[in-house]
Amino acid sequence: MPKLYDTHGRVHDYLRVSLTERCNLRCHYCMPADGVPLSPKEHLCSYEELLSIIDTFCELGVRKIRITGGEPLVRQDVDKMFRALGKRPVELALTTNGLLVDRFIDLFSDIGLRNINVSLDTLEPDRFRLITRRPGFESVMENIRQLVDHDFRVKLNMVVMRGVNDDEIVDFAELARAMPVTVRYIEFMPFDGNRWDDRKMVPAETIRGALADRYMLVRDSDAAHDTTRHYSIPGFRGRIGIISSMSEYFCGSCNRIRLLANGGIQNCLFSENETDLRTPLRRGDDLEPIIRESIRAKKKQHAGMFELADMPGRTMTTIGG
Ligand code: GTP
Ligand code: 5AD
Ligand code: SF4
Repeated sequence: MPKLYDTHGRVHDYLRVSLTERCNLRCHYCMPADGVPLSPKEHLCSYEELLSIIDTFCELGVRKIRITGGEPLVRQDVDKMFRALGKRPVELALTTNGLLVDRFIDLFSDIGLRNINVSLDTLEPDRFRLITRRPGFESVMENIRQLVDHDFRVKLNMVVMRGVNDDEIVDFAELARAMPVTVRYIEFMPFDGNRWDDRKMVPAETIRGALADRYMLVRDSDAAHDTTRHYSIPGFRGRIGIISSMSEYFCGSCNRIRLLANGGIQNCLFSENETDLRTPLRRGDDLEPIIRESIRAKKKQHAGMFELADMPGRTMTTIGG
């Protein structure tokens, strides 16, 4: 079976699956205070429908699946889903806000899911409440410790925002001194309703500079399709990384395709429309040509940050990053 090529020669073998649009936090860089419009229930894929689409992608050469949300762990049949995915011939990974992780540690160990990215934007409890509009800081920190104690490969995702948490860049790096985790600093990206402003975005170069003022940064090698530029710091148990989605994009090596909880696929995090697989699946149609066409239509790269900021309609919480 030929692989999923786009017209720019990129092979797509990394599927990001948003299991649910719902989330137990309300981070203001992700969604407005009252949330975003969610799909009507009949538009959400059942367990069987999602697995069927995922299996089609596996047949088409997908070798890595990252589970995202909303917050994936709030999906009611998430246990069953993980157990089924554990049997697929793929590398499994999860991106979570960490709040519910302690309930799933045994399950993750059972199915061999080792790669867990936890979103955490502040180390100050009061600030956590401001950013996420919910309590839970202590639970997230405790759950990160539990993951580390159980030898999971943990990455911490910090979205750096000027005037919000950019004074914590060094504090976050100190986590990588104390724990074997990868601390990743992410440039703030524009989405509908997240009040993005280029003055709030701290460019990768500024983040790197703040760290280089304090530490000796040793540039590491990155994996082939990595979003992250990695650095080691001598004496640290973990390492750090910078994700420059806005100032220096990494679209040239993109291998990602996204499946949404409503059965839509997006060929790019920033694509303006999605391709519906739910309706053809329910009709019994072959999904392969539809998937191939969506990937063929993928643009070479995203439009640039100011253009993206002016495009309405894309909400982070339903796409899952
Ligand atoms: P691994 O490399 O597998 O660890 O995961 P990841 O970094 O791709 O995934 P994660 O869900 O942890 O996302 C980290 C940040 O990278 C988030 O801000 C995502 O929105 C962003 N990101 C992930 N994939 C893409 C992508 O394809 N394009 C862009 N521009 N940003 C992405
Ligand atoms: N800009 C950059 N990263 C974001 N994330 C959510 N919203 C944004 C944004 N506007 C991150 C989350 C999570 C990952 C999937 O995407 O913090 O770690
Ligand atoms: Fe791929 Fe689009 Fe992300 Fe660029 S912005 S790396 S093309 S998903």
